[in-house]
Amino acid sequence: MSAQTQTRRVTVRDIAARKGGDPVVVLTCYTAPMAQFLDPHVDILLVGDSLGMVVYGMDTTLAVTVDMMIAHGQAAMRGSRKAMVVVDMPFGSYGESPAQAYRNAARILAETGCTAVKLEGGVEMAETVRFLVDRGVPVMGHVGLKPQMVHATGGFRAQGRTEAEAEHVRADARAIAEAGAFSLVVEGTWEPVARQITEEVGCVTIGIGGSPLCDGQVLVTEDILGLFNDFQPKFVKRYAELGAQVSEAAAAYAAEVKARRFPGPEHCFGVKKAEPQKG
Ligand code: KIV
Repeated sequence: MSAQTQTRRVTVRDIAARKGGDPVVVLTCYTAPMAQFLDPHVDILLVGDSLGMVVYGMDTTLAVTVDMMIAHGQAAMRGSRKAMVVVDMPFGSYGESPAQAYRNAARILAETGCTAVKLEGGVEMAETVRFLVDRGVPVMGHVGLKPQMVHATGGFRAQGRTEAEAEHVRADARAIAEAGAFSLVVEGTWEPVARQITEEVGCVTIGIGGSPLCDGQVLVTEDILGLFNDFQPKFVKRYAELGAQVSEAAAAYAAEVKARRFPGPEHCFGVKKAEPQKG
């Protein structure tokens, strides 16, 4: 079914069926207008907690709250019809216990209408993932570089460089997949390790700084559009320079306002347009 003719949302079963098949296309999305632009082109819109840094100018994602994720999840749902919407569980909203994770995940699903939640973690989060999945909450896992662990790991560092690190990330991936996650983000991970994980786990892997052989890819939309300049990881490819265009448009507007060339008669109520000159 083409993106244009599809009338229902992409489901967990649709994504699971793509293991080893056509790559799954994922982009982050935080607002309704952006959801409208992206929806025809992607399988999944991820309302990532990266919004803390990209939209709110925070240094890390740690201060993002469940309420913020719900507000942006609702916006992404309003702006989309076809893509599956997955909403991130923010730091502090699931790590305490499976019951805490379920309470917050249930709120996110009920109040946004999204299909699934994403949470970061490996072996230590497997019990929680199983608890959620068994109670009807589809889960996207997230292993490798885990931005919510920024202080514990001493920065945003790629994972899997040494044999011990590689084994650690692989064990995390296996644990989350075996706990029932329908998909798994593999972020900032040495390419051979991300490739090996994709071969080893039964669920779809979504790479971001992972491997071209992951079952899908995700990037932050503002990164690919040139709308976020604070931090540019190696794995980002810029497909547009909209930040520069925004700046040019604002400068042109400012110049016209200062010169009283804007607004023109066509932008005013009760002002006739000038008659074209005859002869
Ligand atoms: O928060 C986020 O946007 C993410 C993706 C970059 C995978 O976790």
